Amino acid sequence: MLGVSGGIASYKTCSIARGLTEAGVEVDVVMTASAAQFVGPLTFEALTGRPVLQSLWEPGVSLDHVRWARDPDLVLVAPATANLIARAAQGLADDFLTTMLLARTADVLIAPAMNDDMFAQSTTHENLTRLRRRGWHVIGPAVGALAEGPSENPGRMEEPDHIISETKRLLASRSGKWTGRKMLVTAGATREQMDPVRVVTNRSSGLMGYELARAGYERGADVTLVTGPSSLPVPWGVGVKRVETTEEMLNAVAQKLPDTDLMIMAAAPADFRPTSPVESKRPRAGGLITIEFEPTPDILVSTRDVRKPSATVVGFALETTDGLDRAKKKLEDKDLDFIVLNFADEPDAGFESETNRVTLVSRSDVTELPNMLKSDVAEKILDAVESHRG
Ligand code: CTP
Repeated sequence: MLGVSGGIASYKTCSIARGLTEAGVEVDVVMTASAAQFVGPLTFEALTGRPVLQSLWEPGVSLDHVRWARDPDLVLVAPATANLIARAAQGLADDFLTTMLLARTADVLIAPAMNDDMFAQSTTHENLTRLRRRGWHVIGPAVGALAEGPSENPGRMEEPDHIISETKRLLASRSGKWTGRKMLVTAGATREQMDPVRVVTNRSSGLMGYELARAGYERGADVTLVTGPSSLPVPWGVGVKRVETTEEMLNAVAQKLPDTDLMIMAAAPADFRPTSPVESKRPRAGGLITIEFEPTPDILVSTRDVRKPSATVVGFALETTDGLDRAKKKLEDKDLDFIVLNFADEPDAGFESETNRVTLVSRSDVTELPNMLKSDVAEKILDAVESHRG
């Protein structure tokens, strides 16, 4: 159930309703009278494909609030205005939304949004503390521009994508399959220094690893992302460790690994590094240069002994020829539970693409998947891990 109270952030709740509906969540929207001043109920009806509830006094609905309150798996209120928070904290039940909040049995997640001065008031803090003490979950508010101009203080509603992630995580926590599991994901290319301004790297964007980290958080895992240089936004709720070289990635992984339950090596670490990077920039006028490279350590292989024996380990293989045979060999050599095979020479797949076509290889199965968004590939990989663990 998605409660909408009346603030300018209400218009952003449309994308929350849409995002959750697209993810397969059945969303029933309850709007306060002031929310309907900002966004028309028809908008939510069109986005969710379900009727919008507004008044306690609508014929056929008026006595139904208790049933409505018992039905949902989760109640999300976004935006939660200062007024809505105050009414809920007092236990008032003077419209459909507050009545439903008082009668509900499900968990509640609220996303406060208000002017920064209103948020700074001790009254608002006391009300929020009271709700937290009752077990309500609170996301935000964030710091950033408000309707009335820039602000450096909290007040603005947390980003819709972040609210969607947190909502999915709370819904997933009902089954508890991933709750408390520690997940480590590596992502992106590493880079090796040739001289103070030049590096050797590869074309990995990191997107696959970032999507895996997001998907893991949304299922309930505690996720750490070890990433090479990338400008992608870090997924909501995910802890990040930024590294530059393959050696640094190895050290970051080795440190986290002893208590990791699921490790996914989606990174494309640089496989070679110059044997002796020079300390000053090489002048071009010097003409032809020869640089000697040495292999970097293999992270999966060199951390084998610090893995938890019960950990599930997933590697990736990006191949051009003899893909399946090479992937199966890497599965054995690197002692993996799964290897995700993808092909470097296909259009709309692999590096620098939003989509990917992969084959999931386990000790017993080979599953070819069609080309799909990397966010969907991430879900398929985690589905496979989930059924592998049983
Ligand atoms: N990998 C790693 N450490 C490296 C290089 C790769 O742990 N220094 C991991 C990758 O993150 C991936 C898997 O090993 O999960 C396979 O990577 P890939 O580059 O396909 O294999 P390599 O072992 O480097 O073999 P090659 O490049 O010779 O095909």
